[in-house]
Amino acid sequence: MKFNTNMHRDIQSIMFTKQEIDHMVYELAHQINRDYDGEELIAAVILKGSMMFAADLIRCLTMNVKLDFMQVSSYGSGTESSGVIKVKKDLDNDVNGKNVLIIEDIVDSGRTLSLICEDLEKRGAKSVKIVTLLSKPARRVVNVKVDYIGTDIPDEFVVGYGLDMDEKYRQLDYVGILRPEVYM
Ligand code: PRP
Repeated sequence: MKFNTNMHRDIQSIMFTKQEIDHMVYELAHQINRDYDGEELIAAVILKGSMMFAADLIRCLTMNVKLDFMQVSSYGSGTESSGVIKVKKDLDNDVNGKNVLIIEDIVDSGRTLSLICEDLEKRGAKSVKIVTLLSKPARRVVNVKVDYIGTDIPDEFVVGYGLDMDEKYRQLDYVGILRPEVYM
């Protein structure tokens, strides 16, 4: 188990340190730079959880990137995805004929991403790919193709590096496992 002296009191243990996250981000950026060589892309950051990952990832990208944001709601204040999403903030860019790279912090059930992908494809995107830092395969309900995955993780309630519980813990620079007594 990993601990550090700056650990938040609600965190049981650290799953990924900042250094380990940095390493995953570099690896993902390397693959993306290779695959999109000479192409332009729209980076569609899915708010809010992806903002830290996206900020780090796009700084490692070498192609022309148009940064854009989308916010949908799928979770309430609990831990389960509702299966229904509502677009709260749409992309500013017209994606017709463009390469879109969706940037996510975590893929859980896959519902959010499958609905977003379907929507962007309907808008005529030339290509739609997904990069996520974390994936929980054990929780998948919808079979969505995730093109770039930082790492698979077990079904633990993780927070930090953008991920929240009831809007808290996003500011942590590591990904940690929340103490069960905090959300039970
Ligand atoms: C999280 C995460 C994904 C989605 C994944 O966002 O950022 O968008 O849930 O879950 P799914 O695979 O079960 O659909 P959330 O709705 O918690 O919003 P947030 O990013 O603002 O925290």
